[in-house]
Amino acid sequence: MTTNETTASTSEGLNDIDGRIGELLHKMTFAEKVGQLTQINGSHGPIPEWMADDLRNGKVGSVLNEVNVDTANELQRISVEESRLRIPLMIGRDVIHGFKTVFPIPLGQAASWNPELVEKCARIAALEAAAAGINWTFAPMLDIGRDPRWGRVAETFGEDPFLSSAFGAAMVRGFQGDDLSEPGNIAACAKHFAGYGASESGRDYNTTSIPEVVLRNVHLPPFKAALDAGAATFMASFSDLNGVPASGNELLMKQILRKEWRFDGFVVSDWESISQLAVHGLTANDFDSASAAANAGVDMEMASSTYRDHLEALVAVGRVSQQQVDTMVANVLRAKFQLGLFDNPYTDPRRFPSWGNEDHLAAARQLALESVVLLKNENDALPLNPEELNSLAVIGPLSDDGYNQLGTWVFDCDQELSKTPLESIRELVGDSVEIRYARAMERSRSRDGEGFEEAIAIAKESDAILLFLGEESILSGEAHSRADIGLPGNQDEFIGKIANAAEDKPIVMILMAGRPLALESVVKKVDALMFAWHPGSMAGPALADLLFGKESPSGKLPATLPKVTGQIPIYYAMKNTGKPACPDTIIHIDEIGGEQASSGNVSYHLDAGYEPLYCFGHGLSYTSFEYANVRVSAPEISMGHSFAISADITNTGDLEAEEVVQLYLRDLVGNVTRPVRELKGFRRIRLRAGESATVTFELRTDDLAFCNREMEMVTEPGQFHAWIGGSSDTNSRTEFEIVENDNNHPHGE
Ligand code: NOJ
Repeated sequence: MTTNETTASTSEGLNDIDGRIGELLHKMTFAEKVGQLTQINGSHGPIPEWMADDLRNGKVGSVLNEVNVDTANELQRISVEESRLRIPLMIGRDVIHGFKTVFPIPLGQAASWNPELVEKCARIAALEAAAAGINWTFAPMLDIGRDPRWGRVAETFGEDPFLSSAFGAAMVRGFQGDDLSEPGNIAACAKHFAGYGASESGRDYNTTSIPEVVLRNVHLPPFKAALDAGAATFMASFSDLNGVPASGNELLMKQILRKEWRFDGFVVSDWESISQLAVHGLTANDFDSASAAANAGVDMEMASSTYRDHLEALVAVGRVSQQQVDTMVANVLRAKFQLGLFDNPYTDPRRFPSWGNEDHLAAARQLALESVVLLKNENDALPLNPEELNSLAVIGPLSDDGYNQLGTWVFDCDQELSKTPLESIRELVGDSVEIRYARAMERSRSRDGEGFEEAIAIAKESDAILLFLGEESILSGEAHSRADIGLPGNQDEFIGKIANAAEDKPIVMILMAGRPLALESVVKKVDALMFAWHPGSMAGPALADLLFGKESPSGKLPATLPKVTGQIPIYYAMKNTGKPACPDTIIHIDEIGGEQASSGNVSYHLDAGYEPLYCFGHGLSYTSFEYANVRVSAPEISMGHSFAISADITNTGDLEAEEVVQLYLRDLVGNVTRPVRELKGFRRIRLRAGESATVTFELRTDDLAFCNREMEMVTEPGQFHAWIGGSSDTNSRTEFEIVENDNNHPHGE
């Protein structure tokens, strides 16, 4: 094979790949074609004879969940040395937030608002996974997470399409690098296409009902961004979308993905999601399910075997065309060529850096550090000063639990790498502060109160109290949804008891969780509150550095924190409604009279108002930042031109720290109503005490486009508001107008 034949990054290379695909298709039997469309589960041990035979006979295109490099190499060897056409395998695995080294859960990664760092960590995850023979990860997950009851919100980048797009693209770049055929680069998979995040009531796998205009404006942008970043594969969702389950949905795959976006990679189903089309009630049996999925555009079937069992008969009766099957096979083969697998299907682990090495752990520590959000810090309870403390109570089930700090879906983690907060705090303070530890609860969801007495006793005796509470990792992730997102078990009661015992000693609560939690009932009982998500292997050192002020917190919420579960869905980019609420127009349930009156007839809850507990983008620092002079480069911008929105930011405190500067826009009038604010830019900056900087966001009028009633992406002329600040409720506003480009408006480029 010549170099050109395996180089996907040049147009010559692409032509060569197409030529090679054509040759192969010509030689393949129908059964071999179906083989390429079939993905089977790994054996997690010696390769059984039936599997080896299937590989030899060209009946398998991909294996998932095989993580032993020797087995992976043997699977490849059988495929390329003993099968007729010598086609290598895609070996896929859920590498969601790290492999051996575990990074924060994706929701936590999004709280860093640092896509470059996330890209770097995805690169590390790719290297560690590639060393095990994996050449394909089922990540990033790009579902929009606006319902924190849904357990898989942990795997999302939060509630916002713009933020999720930035992180989705970053992860794709991290996994795939510049050239997929380079060792260590693995194919990404943008999942779950599409709408899964809107599962009704947050119950996993549930139905979704999403108007097409909302689908296009809210749910699809991260997928488009992943595609633009080069994502080699997509995964069709399990979920039912407007009555047509995604794995049989032609609008999603045929119309949008292939026709409008011109995707030339391949689509894999989710686990048995093709055979489940019959369970949904879209089809009567596997035969019809295979037909629906193939015709809708699912190229490879994960786990179930409807393609293997029925595609040939479907072609024979004309339900699926031969051309469709060839296109599906070509899509799969293209990815294999791009990965360079025909040249080198084998993995030599010695060519890769060792798992969990110093650099990998340093990156994990940095990302954990940047992902922690300081929600509240009254009376400067934080940072702690070891010189002012004789003793410190470290309390709670998540203080010293190296497994649960890792978060959901970490089957390949090396738990030995975990450093817990208790360990790291002890290391940081040395002998100067006496650390008293009590687990207090066996698990985050315990209700027996057995450990309370001991914990209360040490809280009473210590100078300050750290509570490590929240959710253990099994309470989020796939199939682990909750109907009530308050603190689990009897943590509320426990916090109350600690607050009573503490008198005026500072109580700092550090929450680890796989979702935004509803914290109204506890937030007043603590002086400081840090939201740490599940921070991964290096939770301990990152949290110790933040608690003791080695670094200032700089994470910002990637999702709104409601006061109570019943406010869900609550997100910053809401619509205004015809009766928007404001502080003067709402009446609390305790004050409302018996008679109907027009006052209070606005959009809010009698018992929860309309505001969240903490808004999207919120996150405090140990210093303070002032925003001034928000301005736009011209008051009128001609359509098609670029423009700039800037602000001056000053660190007005006495500490050097990082801040995430956020740009929000509002399009005041639209063909379909527009959100009250939409994130359109963000930048992480570092400022010394007293230092100022100007941050400028360059935009084009195209960046203001949205999907209108006709399903067209349009930027409409008219008035816009723009804000730059440190959260989505910033008040630093300016305005501008987009005008038609009729040469009367010389602004812009
Ligand atoms: C089902 C999940 O929905 C998907 O995200 C995952 O990649 C597959 N299982 C494989 O584990």
